[in-house]
Amino acid sequence: MLRADGLSLEKAADLLKKSEIVAVPTETVYGLAANSLDTEAVARIFAAKGRPQDNPLISHICDMEMLEAIADGISPLARRLAERFWPGSLTMIFGRKPIMPVQTCGGLDTVAVRMPANTWTLSLIEKCGFPLAAPSANTSGLPSPTTAQHVMADMNGKIPMIIDGGECSCGVESTVICFIGDKIRILRPGAVTAEMLGEFAETEIDQAVLCKLESGARAISPGMKYKHYSPRAEVVAVDTDSDDDFDKYVMSNSDGKTVVLGFGEDFHGLSALPYGASSEEQAEHLFDSLRRADEMGFTKVIVRAPSKAGIGLAVYNRLIRAAAFNVVYLGTSGERK
Ligand code: TXA
Ligand code: MG
Repeated sequence: MLRADGLSLEKAADLLKKSEIVAVPTETVYGLAANSLDTEAVARIFAAKGRPQDNPLISHICDMEMLEAIADGISPLARRLAERFWPGSLTMIFGRKPIMPVQTCGGLDTVAVRMPANTWTLSLIEKCGFPLAAPSANTSGLPSPTTAQHVMADMNGKIPMIIDGGECSCGVESTVICFIGDKIRILRPGAVTAEMLGEFAETEIDQAVLCKLESGARAISPGMKYKHYSPRAEVVAVDTDSDDDFDKYVMSNSDGKTVVLGFGEDFHGLSALPYGASSEEQAEHLFDSLRRADEMGFTKVIVRAPSKAGIGLAVYNRLIRAAAFNVVYLGTSGERK
């Protein structure tokens, strides 16, 4: 593990030029980076993560020139979004140019592209001169890594270098969007919210964001069809507006090996891991809290589901997948909108 400085920048670029993979910090989560244009390098990513081959990777770029080199059909709307949100946590889907190998894109004729905001990682892409494919640097299925220590826990011995850039400021992966005519469709919610995108064009949320796809249904974003982000412990998400109902549910469904992931510090004498009072804090701490529940030896995690407004939608989306869609709805309002 090396610190994100000038020396490690040289070393990381050297490895990447030799088709190796390097774990790098971004503002969302840590990424497992390799040359997007190099099929041997990309194959190493899939192997290290144990990732299904049909789950495409995001290519990370450092300027618009790199976008033009790999993407087709860049609309004026996409350019306006790039201007406003890049560098930052927005991934856009474009047509794939032939230079971009089909293996990087999970067999699709589209390519997902993002310009990350971490300055060290941006410099690395610039130094390499090619886009970096980078999925979250966790073992497939486990919670995404928001610290270099999380990456170490999953990838130690499997990859040649991990760069420590400190804790990720956002904590959930980027918003993934595609374009349907003049509309924006959100395939995976993130810090660039539906509300923000709605100022640029009509924005719809794909049905796979908030529920499980029927078996056999085709996911536009293949990553959304898997159980995901899960610790070893069983996760139950409790969706309710009522503090009382939540308390009652926890009291009658927990034992000594249960931990409560709630909004506050303490839970009537039960073990509690607060994951934040605001949606922003919850985004920052969700994955770390899920990993900590395992480290502390709990076998069941009861999580209070967050609000679905703003970045809360991203937290909700990750949480119901961590719970393998085991969501309990309580209260008179039924399923919260
Ligand atoms: O914040 C992020 O996006 C992080 C950091 C490292 O940049 N990366 C990340 O990558 O979350 P990954 O591989 O864990 O998730 C990529 C998501 C998956 O759900 C995948 O299915 C979707 O993006 N995706 C990638 N290419 C796609 C494409 N061509 N069409 C539709 N969905 C795509
Ligand atoms: Mg991931």
